[in-house]
Order: sequence, then C-alpha cells, then structure tokens
Amino acid sequence: MNESVIKAGIIGSGFAARFHFDALKRVFSTKVEVVGAYSRNPEKLQQFTSERNIQAFQQVEELIDACDVLHVCTPPVTHEPLVLAILQKHKHAIVEKPFTGYFGDGSSDFNGDTFPRQTGLDHTLESLRRMLDAEKSSNGRIMYAENWVYAPAIQKEREVLEKTGGQILWMHGEQSHSGSHSLAYGEWRLSGGGSMIGKGSHPIAAAIYLKHVEGRTRNGAPIRPKTVSARTHAITRMDTYDDKGHLQTHYKDIEDLAMVHIVFEDNTVANLFASELVLGGVKNRLEVNANNHRTVCNIAPNDAMQAYTPNESYFKDVYVVEKTETKQGWSNISPDEGWFNGYQHEMDAFYRTAAFGAPIESNSSLAADVIATIYAGYVSAAQKGTEVAITTL
Ligand SMILES: NC(=O)c1ccc[n+]([C@@H]2O[C@H](COP(=O)([O-])OP(=O)(O)OC[C@H]3O[C@@H](n4cnc5c(N)ncnc54)[C@H](O)[C@@H]3O)[C@@H](O)[C@H]2O)c1
Repeated sequence: MNESVIKAGIIGSGFAARFHFDALKRVFSTKVEVVGAYSRNPEKLQQFTSERNIQAFQQVEELIDACDVLHVCTPPVTHEPLVLAILQKHKHAIVEKPFTGYFGDGSSDFNGDTFPRQTGLDHTLESLRRMLDAEKSSNGRIMYAENWVYAPAIQKEREVLEKTGGQILWMHGEQSHSGSHSLAYGEWRLSGGGSMIGKGSHPIAAAIYLKHVEGRTRNGAPIRPKTVSARTHAITRMDTYDDKGHLQTHYKDIEDLAMVHIVFEDNTVANLFASELVLGGVKNRLEVNANNHRTVCNIAPNDAMQAYTPNESYFKDVYVVEKTETKQGWSNISPDEGWFNGYQHEMDAFYRTAAFGAPIESNSSLAADVIATIYAGYVSAAQKGTEVAITTL
C-alpha cells in the first residue's frame, strides 16, 4: 500500500465505535476515508452513520470488501470470527481488547462462576492459534487496539528503555473504576470474564509490552511472561456487601476484583490490579522500577489540569474525567482524555502500518501473550493463587 487514501470501515456502532471514529479524524500521517460502518443493531447503526455522514452497510462482508482497514468495535465474543473474516479477505484488522477468550459452551445454563478454568484456557489457546495462523496466511495484519501501549507516558518509558538499556525489575499497575454500565460486561458468555480481562487487560498489556521492548533492546528478542498467580473476588455479589448505590452491581457471573502476579522469563515480576470497586474516577497507572530509573506513568488521573467548582451545576455541560461520580470541589480534569489514553496515537500508528508498512508496536504477539496470561490467571485463581505456567505462542 502507498500514500493513496486508505479506506476504513467500522464494525459496531457503540462506545468503542464512537471513539475509534473520533481518533480516525486525528490521523495525520496518511489520508484516511471512513467509508462506512456495519453493526447488528440497524437503528443504532443508522443513527451512528447518519450523524457522521458515512454509509450504513447491510452486510459485514460488503463493508470488508469496500475497505482496506476494518475496526472491530464489537463485544469480545465476536472478535475471533470477525478477525478471521477480515484476514481471509487480506484486509487489516484493528481489534479492540480483549483480543479473544472463552465464552462458554453455548448452553443456556452456562455459568461463569463454575465452569472448569482449564477448559477456558484450552479453548482460548485454540482461538489464539486460529487467529495467529490466519494472520500468517494473509496479506492483512492484526493491530491490537491496546491504547495503553500508545499512551504518551508508556511510549516515553519505551524511549527510556531503548536509550538507556535499563532492566525492569518490577512493575506495579492498575486499572480500576466504579464499574461498567454495559449489561453485557456482567455476563461471562459475552465478556469472557470480569475485572481481570475487562480492565486488567490494559495494565497487563502495558507491563508485558515494556518487557517485550526491554528484551528487544537488550537481547534482540522480547522477554515473555512465564508464570502467573492470581486471585479474583466478587465483592458486590457477597451477602455481606452493604450497597450505598455508588458502585455498579449488575454482575451476573464475573469477578469485580482481580490481582495478578506475573513472573517473566528473566524472573523479574509485575503486580497488576483491576477492580470495579474504586470511587473518584478512573485509575489508570503503571509504575516501572528499573535498575537505572523509576517512572510513574499516570495515564488517569493526572495533574495536567486541576479544576475547582463550588457547585457541580456550573459544570453540567463540561466533561471532566471518565467515571467521576461528582464534579463538585476539586477535580483532576482531563483536558484531552483521548490524547492521554493513547487513542489517537494508536490510530495514527496503525495507519502508518497500513500506508507504509511501519512495524506494529501493539501486535498479535503482544495480544496473544496478554490473553494467554489472563486465562492462565483464571486457572490460578480457581486454585486460590497457585503459580500456573503461561503458554506463549
Ligand atoms: N480500549 C478501550 O478503552 C475500550 C473501551 C470500551 C470498550 N472497549 C472494547 O470495545 C469493544 C466494544 O465495546 P463497546 O463498549 O463499544 O460495546 P457497545 O455495546 O457499546 O457496542 C457494541 C456494538 O457492537 C455491535 N455488535 C454486536 N455484535 C455484533 C456482530 N456480531 N457484528 C457486528 N456488530 C455487532 C452492537 O450492535 C453495538 O453497536 C469491546 O471489546 C470492549 O472491550 C475498549
């Protein structure tokens, strides 16, 4: 492909489709035309496309045929079949997190609390193999839309590692907030798990990415995750939970808190945390402790801008920061949340790949390591934290 206009298509018309479209408007490295979108819900699709003056496609195959790059902005259970269909037609697939997973056996009484975790891991590894094999036989590439990889703070840490040859000894990271509003998020058969995959996939990906970068810099090959120990809990589903109404509580058969301890091939470690039980706005943070530096990557909140109002009614039309319960008093207002989160940086990078063949930082190998770690983590959590080996593909 060259510098001619790259044609983009969006699959889905919900939350992620909206921020992908916004990020596409800020791609500056090449010319992009958003051709259209397809989604399962015809009314929402119509609204999404007419508001953005793009075509609504009736069939996903027609959208794939009309585009060079497809954005998979649909629930996790749909990611594998859509990515395979896109790659089969030799087009590029930008796929949202989580890359893939285990969504049950299709039975109506499938229960995310009780199914054997080893079955989940085995099926997930098969899904990963199918996706990686499909990429090998396609001219299209998988671009894993893990925005944390492209967040400026994480990319700055990449620069530090590459320029100083530092060795990361341990990391400490978290994504938490007061819970997802999406009903699909609370059901394992649609989401593939709870906090560990839904939120933990971000800090887990950033930690694994940085060890990949360190390995490439120091030894010419990524340092991969080796084992995982994990615990999961469903706090809001406990009989003893005292609900004051500030946290989401609609989870059916998923965990709302997860802790993950990863040991890498070089025996260095990362502790990652994810939960639906944190008030005061989203917490997106990774701390890196290396042999020659220490960085604290505050993606959100950060103190780029702080705002105070004595009465939140003044800010009723002002966006402050993701998932805050109140705008009254002091807030860590995010002046450009998409920028800090890495949304537009990831899009620009992916289109540099589509146009000029630039290497992909958040690639299918990273996506596979993250998902293999998480599903080995679910096996560990079922054994109350026993160390489990991670299969890297
Ligand atoms: N990177 C991030 O920060 C971030 C944030 C939110 C969501 N996500 C991810 O984005 C994905 C979508 O989440 P969302 O919040 O936009 O969900 P959503 O429910 O808002 O939207 C999902 C869309 O997919 C459509 N859809 C469902 N099944 C489909 C199918 N088989 N074919 C075509 N369209 C289909 C629905 O009609 C809907 O338009 C998930 O994987 C989620 O984890 C990522």
